[in-house]
Amino acid sequence: MSSVAVRNVVKSYGEHTIIEDLSFDIQDGEFMVFVGPSGCGKSTLLRMIAGLESFQRGEIAIGSRVVNFVPARDRNIAMVFQDYALYPHMTIRNNMSFGLKMRGTDKAEIERRVAQASEILQIGHLLDRKPRALSGGQRQRVAMGRAIVREPDVFLFDEPLSNLDAKLRVEVRTEIKRLHARLKTTMIYVTHDQVEAMTMADRIVVLRGGAVEQIGTPADLYHEPRTRFVAGFIGSPAMNFLPVHINGETATLATGDQVQVRRLGSSAAAPGELGIRPEHIGITAPGGHGVECVVDVVEPLGSDTLLSVTVGDTPVMVRLPGDVVPKAGDRLQLAFVPGKALAFDANGARI
Ligand SMILES: Nc1ncnc2c1ncn2[C@@H]1O[C@H](COP(=O)(O)OP(=O)(O)OP(=O)(O)O)[C@@H](O)[C@H]1O
Ligand SMILES: [Mg+2]
Repeated sequence: MSSVAVRNVVKSYGEHTIIEDLSFDIQDGEFMVFVGPSGCGKSTLLRMIAGLESFQRGEIAIGSRVVNFVPARDRNIAMVFQDYALYPHMTIRNNMSFGLKMRGTDKAEIERRVAQASEILQIGHLLDRKPRALSGGQRQRVAMGRAIVREPDVFLFDEPLSNLDAKLRVEVRTEIKRLHARLKTTMIYVTHDQVEAMTMADRIVVLRGGAVEQIGTPADLYHEPRTRFVAGFIGSPAMNFLPVHINGETATLATGDQVQVRRLGSSAAAPGELGIRPEHIGITAPGGHGVECVVDVVEPLGSDTLLSVTVGDTPVMVRLPGDVVPKAGDRLQLAFVPGKALAFDANGARI
């Protein structure tokens, strides 16, 4: 087990700087997720920690050891990729033990580790098969098994679930969490799926254009996003943003309606945006006064009902309890849950 530190790292390809002065710490035993849109540098960062990619400036440490000049094979990390990278001609048992054999690990020790990993992942019955005789989910489990037998200080995962169908993704996601709970090894997990990030992470690093936008627990990012980018990226369906004029704790919508916002500071009156999550909007009792909207689309999901509505000219998503099912064309009065509406300035900073 090990902590990981990234200090002032700069990475460029030729003229093009991909990562600019990035710093953060990962605690020993932590499950850290890197999340962000495509091309923001998640894989590059993971590969630099793994030792598969060089960088121009800064320092990466695993435990107390700076590893800038330590080759990948000597970093005692194990990486699990999206495409499994299993050897097609080898049995599952040999796929799992190959790396250890190459290192000259004792035969009895290899058997012990393979047996233990197969037991954890419940793949004991597959050991004599070849990868082509396995389902996608089983192959991904074998890829994890191969990482586990190395008994690494740190596990690195790069979008390991993206080749699996939706149901299997949820299953394997739970398995990886269980694995972490059992092994308590530091894990770094890359995804562009914010639901995966929220459900798996102890803490999340939100990356944007090669820079850290915010680091925090899933609850921090959900409740206290520091920017509009994080607010819009975390949460599903995404947070709604409405153009407003902000004065103190009052935001005035384009429709003239006034809504209370929770402010961080007390800057001068200014135009900006109000952010409110779909689950923090309700409808008022009949005859009550709220923000008027017109229902465009109704999506009854059983457990809840999603509405696409229009407030003035702005599209807004609303999540209601499943037993409330309005009709397209209905006019409703929306009520924003007190304390849940956030304020952002014209540059997207939380204010
Ligand atoms: N070998 C390379 N040469 C030049 N540019 C590269 C190279 N590898 C990656 N890049 C660029 O670096 C940036 C970050 O790429 P990276 O693969 O880390 O993104 P990512 O966040 O993992 O994206 P995705 O979610 O699509 O996997 C991208 O703009 C990419 O085009
Ligand atoms: Mg990537």
